[in-house]
Amino acid sequence: MNEQSLSVRDAILQRRSIKVFNGQPVERDTLMNILDDAKWAPNHGARQPWRLVVACGKELSELHTVLLEFGVAKWKELSEEDLAKQMKKFTTPGAYAFMIVPEDARQKERLEDYAAASTYIQNAQLLAWDLGIGSCWKTPGFLDTPKFREALGVQQGERIISMLQFGYFDEMPKPKPRKEVEEFVSFFGTN
Ligand SMILES: Cc1cc2nc3c(=O)[nH]c(=O)nc-3n(C[C@H](O)[C@H](O)[C@H](O)COP(=O)(O)O)c2cc1C
Repeated sequence: MNEQSLSVRDAILQRRSIKVFNGQPVERDTLMNILDDAKWAPNHGARQPWRLVVACGKELSELHTVLLEFGVAKWKELSEEDLAKQMKKFTTPGAYAFMIVPEDARQKERLEDYAAASTYIQNAQLLAWDLGIGSCWKTPGFLDTPKFREALGVQQGERIISMLQFGYFDEMPKPKPRKEVEEFVSFFGTN
């Protein structure tokens, strides 16, 4: 395993969402270590409201078959070459993790659980980044379709909130602009 160790600040500042991967596989042990460490995310009531369905190595080709159906329009009409081109966005990541959260009937708990799972995802993205592995949190519309949910074994009362793609990459994306802190922070009593 590539043992880098960025400071927390450097990991936060340097991380970019990676949307173009180079096809290098992510080792199962490496991914499992990332997902294990990420569990130290804050979560109210220690509910740990996360569950992940992962595809890495041998599971990937079956996942690609499912993604083909949902993610490529009119795939049956495409030539093999065009299909391979369009599928690149799905076939080049080295691993996938789908984050599934409970949908509590109580609004406060539901929000807390979504927030906790989000902090878990951020942890996983930063931990991966520290190892030179890029990631992107994706929310394609098909995550909510009954057929896709069924393919992942998602139960009633659960929701897939993220398709996390992990993988190695050759090009570092430019940072997306952020507002200055003064634009989004005001001091209590001055409004
Ligand atoms: C809740 C959430 C959903 C996202 N969904 C997508 C998505 O569907 N497709 C995508 O390309 N990026 C998605 N992203 C990644 C954002 O595009 C990315 O974080 C943003 O452009 C800022 O870039 P950075 O992460 O490199 O700073 C999502 C991020 C979040 C937090």
